[in-house]
This record gives sequence, structure tokens and C-alpha cells, in this order.
Amino acid sequence: MHLTWGGVDCLELAEKFGTPLYVYDTGIIKARCREIRDTFIARWPGSSAHYAAKAFMSRAIVRVIDAEGLGLDVVSGGELYTALSADFPPERIEFNGNAKSREEIDFAVRSGVGRIIVDHPDELAIIAECAKNYGRVQKVLLRVTPGVDAHTHSHIATGQTGSKFGFPLEGAILRDTIRAAKAVKALDVAGLHFHVGSQLFDPQDHISAVDRITALMRDLKAEGFITRELNLGGGFGAVVNPSMSPVKLSGFMNPIMSRLTERCREFGLETPQAIIEPGRWIVSEAGITLYRVENIKELPKVTYIAVNGGMSDNPRFALYQAEYEAVCVSAPDAPAYDRDGGTHVSIVGKCCESGDILIDNAKISRLEAGDIIALYNSGAYTFSMSSRYNCLPRAAVVFVEGGKARVVVERESYEDLVRGQSV
Ligand SMILES: Cc1ncc(COP(=O)(O)O)c(C=O)c1O
Repeated sequence: MHLTWGGVDCLELAEKFGTPLYVYDTGIIKARCREIRDTFIARWPGSSAHYAAKAFMSRAIVRVIDAEGLGLDVVSGGELYTALSADFPPERIEFNGNAKSREEIDFAVRSGVGRIIVDHPDELAIIAECAKNYGRVQKVLLRVTPGVDAHTHSHIATGQTGSKFGFPLEGAILRDTIRAAKAVKALDVAGLHFHVGSQLFDPQDHISAVDRITALMRDLKAEGFITRELNLGGGFGAVVNPSMSPVKLSGFMNPIMSRLTERCREFGLETPQAIIEPGRWIVSEAGITLYRVENIKELPKVTYIAVNGGMSDNPRFALYQAEYEAVCVSAPDAPAYDRDGGTHVSIVGKCCESGDILIDNAKISRLEAGDIIALYNSGAYTFSMSSRYNCLPRAAVVFVEGGKARVVVERESYEDLVRGQSV
């Protein structure tokens, strides 16, 4: 039996649309959105969720997220443009990022985004100027660095002291910025934002951050600033294989929200409206990537399975040793092959880098050149991080659901590679 995804035979997908191919089961994405609505938004009055578009951005995912009633977190003018081009309501967009340009801020304010997450004091004067120009009052949250060392790879930890993201909790800069912003009529300083890091499997880091931020909220209240909204970031982990139990959002949000409520009660604060911005948890497990095996090289200590993509469509192993599992789509249940007891099997790409690895030490059945493999759990930070390294055209994206497939991002051609270039 062949592997199917969203009710569609993966071998047929590879034949029809070519490889490498990103394939998303939109049924899984919608189920995640529903879980957010049912277990978080319905439970905590005033709460909301913004999908972190950086995990996978395209016009088609924007339509899914809008239809599911979530907000959108964007971090660049390009992401904002993509969202607006697919008719996403601007008031449900928040604009994040640690190095926004004047043009991006102007675009965001002009478009009427719901919130801008301020990461540097210099942004405020620009936001205020734009808001005045467009006759708006712009809601902003200030991103703070909670000073928590998240239990994850250092490249995807963001909340530690010394991080490039956010305002440090200590020192005068945060207080001075709040004071200055409050004095500007064109700004509505609604609260605070933090993001501890990504690919987390228990709520402890968020809870540690809540402990520190609620103490800050207490101090700020004494200085006349009320935190009406608190954005708790994303970071909820994605498992590597569909046979593993997915992370339950309630396993994160119930303890985090209980702690937030408890601490606010203890400090005599009104519990702020909570916002979350998950990325990978919504799309990672919905996505697989199909590759064709080009050749197999059996060396004495290692077997290399070389496929027709690699770090150009998925740089995540090269960046931070992301873990994956893969199967042969024509024999997904076949036992893992072990050449001579303990041979190292490495699934590698076609790019000219030794670090171009998709899975180091893969457990996969015996393969032959021409086989199609599926890399599970590859829906997040793959298409969105893809490059044209080695002049490899970007792969296509297909949405599948209920046995039907449709292309939502076309495969690039060689002509696309040279478009806009002069000699
Ligand atoms: C500010 C912010 N919010 C949300 C996210 C989404 O993280 P994840 O995909 O792990 O949920 C990130 C990831 O980098 C982030 O930096």
C-alpha cells in the first residue's frame, strides 16, 4: 500500500506534480485551528491567536487561516503584502520584527494593521509619525526579553538575557519608552509581548517567563501603566512522525494561563487579554516533502541516499540539526534496512555542501534510485526558508484534502531563475 496524504496517493502526487514537492494536508491545519478555538480562545475570555506566518507563508495558507478565524503574525513588508494580497483583514494582523524599516512601518500603519510589536525605542517615533499622517491611533505592544533560557537549540531560543529580541526587563530603557509612548495620542500602548523560543515540549519556559513578566506588570502598574494585553508568543513543539502523539495545546495553555491568572490575582492585577502566536504547531505536522532518490552510495561506514532536493528546499538540519523521519512512499510500512548491522544511513541533498543533510542516521527501508520518499513533519520553516542555492528552482506547493489535490505555489522554472537579471 502506498503512502497517502489527505486521501491522495503520494506516488501519484509525485508523478503528477514532480519532485521535490511540498504537500500540505489542509485538514490537519484546520484541525489545529479548531483546537486553538475550542481549547484556548473559547476558554479564556478576550484571548486570541495569531498564526506566525514565517513558519509557512503563501496566499493560500492566508485564506485558510482567515477562514478559520485566527489572526496573522507577520514580520516583514513582504509577509504583510502577501497577507493583504489574499484579502486578510488588516485589523487581525500584528506586525513583529526586530529591525523594521521606516518603509515597512509606514506600510503597516497605512494598511491598518491591528497591532505593531515594538522591539526598539526608535520605532515609536516612526509609528507615531505614520499614525498621525494617516489619522490613526496605532495599537502597539512592547516586546520584552523575559530572561529565560528555553530548553531548545540555541539557534531557536529567543527569550534569554542578551537576546537580540526585545527590551531587557532591567534598566530604564523599557520604562522610558513606555512613558514616552503613553504621552503620544496617536499611540495606544496596550501591553507587552514575549517569545521564549521554539520547538518546546512542556510549558515550563513559558511559565518562568510569566512569573517574571507578571512581576514586571506589577511594578509597571505602580508606575501608572496597565498591561491590558499580553502576547505569550509561540514555540509549541511539533513531533517528527505521524505515529507520535501530537502536542496538545491545552497541555501548554492551561498551566500557562492558570499561572498567569494566579499571579495576577496575587499582585492585584486584572488578568490581561492573552494572545498566542504559534507557527510550527499549526503547519509542521500537516506538511510532508516528497523527493526522488537519485542515487545511493554505499561506502564502508556510511550509506548515502542522495535525493533531488536538499538544503535549498529545507535548510533546517544545516541550521540547527532539525530531526526528521522519512519513508518510501511505495512501501511505508517496510522495516528499516540495516546493511550490515549498524551502518550509518544518511539522506543527503544535491547541494554542494557536506552539511547538505536532510536526515543523519535515518531509519528507512531499503531504497533504490528512482524511489520516492516522504519527509514527515516538514511543513514548517522549509518552503519559507527555501533558497535557490546552486540555481535550483524552488519546488511547488500542493494542498491536499479529502482525496483532492491543488497546486497553490507553482514550481519555479529556469526562466524564473534569470528573471530580472541583466548580463
Ligand atoms: C516572535 C515570534 N513569535 C512566534 C514565533 C513562532 O514560533 P513557532 O513556530 O515555534 O511557534 C516565532 C518564531 O521564531 C517568533 O520569533
